[in-house]
Amino acid sequence: MTQDPLHTKLCDMLEIEYPIIAFTHCKDVAVSVINSGAFAVLGEAMHTPDEISADIQWIRDRVNGKPFGVDLVLPASVPQTATLDDLMAQIPEEHRSFAKHIKEKYDVPEPKGSIDLHQWGGLNQEMARAQLEVLLEERVPVICSGLGSPAFILDAAHERGIKIFGLIGKTRQARRQLEAGVDGIIAQGYDAAGHTGAMGTFSIVPEVASIAGDTPVIAAGGVTTGRHLAAALCLGASGVWTGTLWLASRESDVDMIVKEKLLAASADDTSYSTCISGMTMRTLKCPWTEEWAKPEAPNPLSAPYQMLLSSDYIQGANDHRREDLMTEAAGQGVGFVTSMKPSRQIVFDLVEEALTAFEERTGEAD
Ligand SMILES: Cc1cc2nc3c(=O)[nH]c(=O)nc-3n(C[C@H](O)[C@H](O)[C@H](O)COP(=O)(O)O)c2cc1C
Repeated sequence: MTQDPLHTKLCDMLEIEYPIIAFTHCKDVAVSVINSGAFAVLGEAMHTPDEISADIQWIRDRVNGKPFGVDLVLPASVPQTATLDDLMAQIPEEHRSFAKHIKEKYDVPEPKGSIDLHQWGGLNQEMARAQLEVLLEERVPVICSGLGSPAFILDAAHERGIKIFGLIGKTRQARRQLEAGVDGIIAQGYDAAGHTGAMGTFSIVPEVASIAGDTPVIAAGGVTTGRHLAAALCLGASGVWTGTLWLASRESDVDMIVKEKLLAASADDTSYSTCISGMTMRTLKCPWTEEWAKPEAPNPLSAPYQMLLSSDYIQGANDHRREDLMTEAAGQGVGFVTSMKPSRQIVFDLVEEALTAFEERTGEAD
């Protein structure tokens, strides 16, 4: 092979060695990935503007000027502005009593303090807007929107030299964002952890690549090995965007109980449901997802109401480290996450496996 197959236009755009983007909530993972030659995007949708500002500084202090991204959620379908009490008041009695039934059946403990999910930028647009202001002010090199079109911030971002990436689950969303002028598009398939659409990664990536022109397409959903990376590039992507892969890494701040669950899990252990946030989401199965899947369960509420309903369960389980109750977003590629490697090693293994996969195909392995 004469050319480096892993050197793509995404590498040139982001000034990185490897076309790998880690989505993570953990600053240590982000720094390790960035300093290994790949790119990291820090998920900050659950943080206050002050926390976001501090996290940006923390990363800047450790990456020697290398670029990085921050991800928020900007859903257009949630209320403009609303207090927690306003939102809570709209949860129907039937749903409250089903949540109470789960709580009693599994002896779900009360959260110990404030509830992390109540900070979520997806609860109302005002909250997301305040988070966004910090990213603009800080001139974060790349801003990503995990939910909702980022088209409305393109001008403000570009004026400040910031690149905007949008994450989509449907080709028509990709088309709209490309027409608006995003700098990169993350085509995320059904296999993915977290909020995800119904189209498979193998279908959505080449479809979006076929309409993206020069804009880099980044494949997401189920990428947990170098073979996935190689395949994604062959499908027309310029890189991969990965989430599940980093959760059980050495640096990751995910609870050790959840790390063990992830290491033991396979695709069958994931659930795809609206019962956590009101939007389709893939997580590890847990009593909450199993109960809402039963025929007697009410239909989950829309966003953000279902998130408010599930947040007590999730926080109670986490605060008391109840192994039987805890869950986490996890994709169908989780079966390949089998050991607690340093993030740096994960990057290098992905690169080596991908190069081997390419060599095997071109007969240059022996
Ligand atoms: C624990 C966890 C939390 C996530 N939260 C978000 C989020 O807040 N915003 C977002 O854009 N994507 C979020 N995602 C999805 C990732 O950005 C990514 O698209 C997904 O993990 C890709 O699929 P994979 O897990 O199979 O690699 C999350 C993923 C995980 C694993």
